[in-house]
Amino acid sequence: MPTLARDKRGLVVALDGPASSGKSSVGAAAAAELGYRFCDTGLLYRAVTWLALHRVVSVDDPAGLVRLVAEIVLLDDGNGRLSRVAIDGVDRTNDVRRPDVDVAVSAVSGVAELRQALLARQRALADGGRIVMAGRDIGTVVLPDADLKLFLDASVEERARRRAVERRVDPGSPEGIEILQELGRRDRLDSTRLVAPLRAAEDAVVIKTDGNEFETTVELVVRAIREAEGEPSTKPAPAATAPATAVAAGTPARASRTKRPPAEPTRIATRLGFLIRLGSAVLRVIARAIVRLRIEGDLSALPRSGPLIVAGNHASSADPVLIGAFLNGILGRPLNWLGKRELVEYPLTGWAFRRAGIHPVDRDAADLEAFRTAMRILEAGQVLAVFPEGTRSRDGGLQKVREGVGMLALRSGASVLPVAVIDSDLMWPRGRLLPRWGRRVTVRYGKPFRVEDEQPKVRAGEKRDRRASTEAATRLIMTRIAELLPRRQRGVYAAEAEARSVR
Ligand code: DC
Repeated sequence: MPTLARDKRGLVVALDGPASSGKSSVGAAAAAELGYRFCDTGLLYRAVTWLALHRVVSVDDPAGLVRLVAEIVLLDDGNGRLSRVAIDGVDRTNDVRRPDVDVAVSAVSGVAELRQALLARQRALADGGRIVMAGRDIGTVVLPDADLKLFLDASVEERARRRAVERRVDPGSPEGIEILQELGRRDRLDSTRLVAPLRAAEDAVVIKTDGNEFETTVELVVRAIREAEGEPSTKPAPAATAPATAVAAGTPARASRTKRPPAEPTRIATRLGFLIRLGSAVLRVIARAIVRLRIEGDLSALPRSGPLIVAGNHASSADPVLIGAFLNGILGRPLNWLGKRELVEYPLTGWAFRRAGIHPVDRDAADLEAFRTAMRILEAGQVLAVFPEGTRSRDGGLQKVREGVGMLALRSGASVLPVAVIDSDLMWPRGRLLPRWGRRVTVRYGKPFRVEDEQPKVRAGEKRDRRASTEAATRLIMTRIAELLPRRQRGVYAAEAEARSVR
């Protein structure tokens, strides 16, 4: 271990954090303001990865990867910032930031021998002090004795949004979602690898950057370093009171924004176990006691295996029961649902809801979180039931929906089973505590279909307009639901449904 410079006017600062948390840009800017040197250690791993891809060196060849290290040189921008990298004398900074390197770098950086080989280099750089060193394991492994450890953090959604904006992509577009998924994958790999996983050191000051302007975060980092410089004990004031906790979000003056940790995920329901059968049987008896229920459609044609999206209109609180308690028996497999996290957190019912295949979704994280959970269910080949409208309709008619369901159908390739729950709003209107007895409600199932089969084929060499396809897929699904509904309930999709029925 090197002896770190303890000169209080020139500290060794470890700056860790997940991908796209802003370590490199924030670290470089803060270092410039303070007259510190800066080193982005991610460049070392990226450069090895880039070389390994070019020389076709596999991650199963640790010695081969270690040999590449000698060819890599970090470049000083003239102001002491090591923010560029040269390989064989050529500046490759832009090349090592390309998406193919993004995809491969986590696996390469999980190779213990390589990390060991880079360790001495990184420590030697820090030896002179007065440096901000950015990476994943600087505070935990490379410089455990650093004078100040900072951990920049932001939700994966926020980081994906920033990266999308950087690349001039709409964060809600399919490309935006792809960026989000890729970041999530890298987070998982970086934080679960066996050697030097990404985590905040116990004595790190965690700076939450959700919602911050870039300048705000730079200011927070500069302030933390200045405070640390002023303290001969070398520990910054915020860390002393709140180690490894969020100390700042928003403006530097604002107190920490407490964000609930994500809810424990529910296991995907794959089997009609005893509890689901029993619960459904009880609900069926209750439903039949209250409602004159009719179930229509060619039930023998419903897919009993493979990923399936059951998409229905939503006009009453009874809808999930009127579909779920009956359909799981018909399909011979359970349905998975997305629900607000409170459902699975109520002490008694929470337990039951989890077993009923309800997956918690955070309202704050909204669509992206829900989308990922939904994709997991479909990728597992299971049934996902959704109400694309999100909330119950106020007048019983279909409301305009966002594009999630169409994107889900396209991305997963799952079949879609449209279902209409007719007159449930008259049986149990919004705002009424109890349902009305003896009303007729019909649950009508349509023909399952795959969205891709219904879209115009793209000719070889042509590129599909992803946004237009997603819109068309969503419209198609909603139109299929509308066709099953009486005119009164077709709402904003009435015109589409009628146009199709006269064709
Ligand atoms: O910060 P970045 O995205 O440029 O880093 C690229 C990769 O390098 C990242 O996926 C994890 C790895 N890395 C590491 O394992 N340890 C470091 N100190 C820095 C980066």
